[in-house]
Amino acid sequence: MKFIVVSLLFLMLTVPVRRAQRTTTTTTTTTEFSFGGFSGNQSQILTTGVATIKPDGLLRLTDRNANVTGTAFYSKPVRLLANSTVGSFSTSFVFVIIPTSSSNGGFGFTFTLSPTPDRPGAESAQYLGLLNERNDGNLTNHVFAVEFDTVQGFKDVSDRSGNHIGLNFNNLASDVQEPVVYYDNDESDRKEDFLLQSGDPIQALLDYDGPTQTLNFTVYPARLKSRPVKPLISRPVPKLLEIVQEEMYVGFTAATGRDQSSAHYVMGWSFSSGVDPPPLVAEPFNLSELPHPPPNTAKKTGYDPQVLSLIVALSGVTLILLALLFFFVMYKKRLQQGEILEDWEINHPHRLRYKDLYAATDGFNVNRIIGTGGFGTVFRGSPSSSSSSSDQIAVKKITPNSMQGVREFVAEIESLGRLRHKNLVNLQGWCKHKNDLLLIYDYIPNGSLDSLLYSRPRQSGAVLSWNVRFQIAKGVASGLLYLHEEWEKIVIHRDVKPSNVLIDDDMNPRLGDFGLARLYERGGSLSHTTVVVGTIGYMAPELTRTRKSSTASDVFAFGVLLLEIVSGRRPTDSGNFFLPDWVMELREILTAVDPRLGSCYDSIEAKVSLAVGLLCCHQRPESRPSMRMVLRYLNGDEDVPVIDDHWGYSDSSTSDLGSKFEGYVSSDRASSSVTSFSITRISSTSVISGR
Ligand SMILES: *[C@@H]1O[C@H](CO)[C@@H](O)[C@H](O)[C@H]1NC(C)=O
Ligand SMILES: *[C@@H]1O[C@H](CO)[C@@H](O)[C@H](O)[C@H]1NC(C)=O
Ligand SMILES: *[C@@H]1O[C@H](CO)[C@@H](O)[C@H](O)[C@H]1NC(C)=O
Ligand SMILES: *[C@@H]1O[C@H](CO)[C@@H](O)[C@H](O)[C@H]1NC(C)=O
Ligand SMILES: *[C@@H]1O[C@H](CO)[C@@H](O)[C@H](O)[C@H]1NC(C)=O
Ligand SMILES: *[C@@H]1O[C@H](CO)[C@@H](O)[C@H](O)[C@H]1NC(C)=O
Repeated sequence: MKFIVVSLLFLMLTVPVRRAQRTTTTTTTTTEFSFGGFSGNQSQILTTGVATIKPDGLLRLTDRNANVTGTAFYSKPVRLLANSTVGSFSTSFVFVIIPTSSSNGGFGFTFTLSPTPDRPGAESAQYLGLLNERNDGNLTNHVFAVEFDTVQGFKDVSDRSGNHIGLNFNNLASDVQEPVVYYDNDESDRKEDFLLQSGDPIQALLDYDGPTQTLNFTVYPARLKSRPVKPLISRPVPKLLEIVQEEMYVGFTAATGRDQSSAHYVMGWSFSSGVDPPPLVAEPFNLSELPHPPPNTAKKTGYDPQVLSLIVALSGVTLILLALLFFFVMYKKRLQQGEILEDWEINHPHRLRYKDLYAATDGFNVNRIIGTGGFGTVFRGSPSSSSSSSDQIAVKKITPNSMQGVREFVAEIESLGRLRHKNLVNLQGWCKHKNDLLLIYDYIPNGSLDSLLYSRPRQSGAVLSWNVRFQIAKGVASGLLYLHEEWEKIVIHRDVKPSNVLIDDDMNPRLGDFGLARLYERGGSLSHTTVVVGTIGYMAPELTRTRKSSTASDVFAFGVLLLEIVSGRRPTDSGNFFLPDWVMELREILTAVDPRLGSCYDSIEAKVSLAVGLLCCHQRPESRPSMRMVLRYLNGDEDVPVIDDHWGYSDSSTSDLGSKFEGYVSSDRASSSVTSFSITRISSTSVISGR
């Protein structure tokens, strides 16, 4: 048995030799083979070191272990020398180099003509499994190699790049060295560079023409549709004659480095040589006819600093673009909606869209302003282009001093929006935009009582008739009664005065701005809660002490308003004048009636009105009548109590004339309302005072 095995081994080893001897004798000088993958051809490839043919048909020269070598040679020698010249040969192969990581791969492989089918003593790293430290450069080596180097070579000077091709004669220092590029077929001289250790299949073509001693070499990514016409290297290599012996072996050597390593694979290989007939020119491989390339398992972690900085720059740019996109989208959204809503704003039926208000008022055009004062500026708006005066709106733009106040106020507006009375200005809705609160009311065409009492008579001489005055007085009383007693909640107006009474087409009064003063009472900028809101001349005396608005303080303001309607005089002037005091002091009360009316008034109604006005101005809130009583007095349903010098006294100890003051208005209150209030906020007609 042993004998048979030994004989078989002997036979296998001797066959090539004997055939070589026979070719010599028969002068057959042609070799031709093509491996599209190496499955089933193991016997024709001699491997040493770590080189191996994988079950999937790939010839792996080295794995990615450090400091390893591998060789793979065609098992039969090739006869290249004939008549003392090197005969033509041509070879084509597809290889793949997979580095450990994209920045750290190392050493390379060669296509070699060697006198032996192995490379005994060859070393790793820069020796590429081809030579070693001792025989490098020795003329007795008889090796020719095309090196595919991925690391700057051992003896390479600094201008040689790591990714290169070299032609080596007995020596690892290349005689010819070229960076890895191919020539683009379309633009004849444009060089395209690429990486050997990309992990992608690469096609190499080597042709040697014996008669001209010219060697052509081309290398390019195998994915290209057609081979580059112009070779990377095309030059005469007479030196080859010193290398080539009678018989040579063709194959590959490869090595990894000590701390840099790549796996080297050959996917397909064809070779042909011959003197007569000349060899076929080797063709590029068709990738689809080769085994699948090895998976590129190179770790992507370690990036080349250049690549890294590029990635960082690109991510930066991407981030900026995304941010811009985000802001653009938000901006568009804001433009479309006109506003960004806070959660609490969303579920309120009376909230109107800022966009609509903006359009209705021509962008809050100054030409649309119909009033300033109160707590803001009022614009006239037309919701649609074809609007009659009846569906016009008044938009009041307020800038409150705290948004917290707005939030509570809006909750209240939701209920105020449900108030419906012929003597109230109808609140249609509201809108918050940035720091502004917009309140939308019915548009009342005739302006305010204030202008009818004062401005218009000055301009046109048209004085309000008594009937209209009395109608207005009763209307305002009726509106206030609704607020105080007839609605589901008690609503305190807080700022009853002529400029808040609007007069419609039928000369019917409508009370506006109810509850608005509340915004400022709540406002946070006036630090403590001791804020008094109202208008000088209309503020009840107890407000300076208790700072609490009540229905009685509204009644006080109504009393002043009533006296004002009858007398046509403002409640205060710059001096010590105070309307209720003045009326109280008159010996004949009817002399208080507006002199512009002449005798055109109903003296009974005027007397009742003045008396009710004085009653309402009583210093003690609990002594003032309710609005229901006021209306009964004005309608003549109830007799007005007689007002004498002692009516309304808080104590009955004094009986002098001066005490008359105290029953209604204390003189010190009157003076304090003018002189000692510290005024913290003034609009044209309103103040908020506190201390
Ligand atoms: C490789 O092996 C296959 C299958 O055994 C065979 O058909 C083919 O001819 C061989 N190729 C060469 C070049 O010997
Ligand atoms: C590389 O391998 C050779 C033999 O395989 C060994 O002699 C040498 O010490 C190794 N070098 C390193 C740096 O491991
Ligand atoms: C080889 O050279 C000899 C003379 O040196 C010549 O007779 C012969 O034809 C040549 N053979 C070939 C194949 O060129
Ligand atoms: C070259 O190699 C031969 C045989 O191995 C040896 O005898 C010779 O000394 C070497 N020459 C040099 C310069 O190393
Ligand atoms: C080598 O390349 C040159 C230039 O492209 C071409 O003219 C020549 O025919 C080529 N020789 C071989 C053997 O392919
Ligand atoms: C490669 O082979 C495939 C299938 O065998 C074929 O369809 C294709 O045309 C070939 N490509 C080239 C460039 O020969």
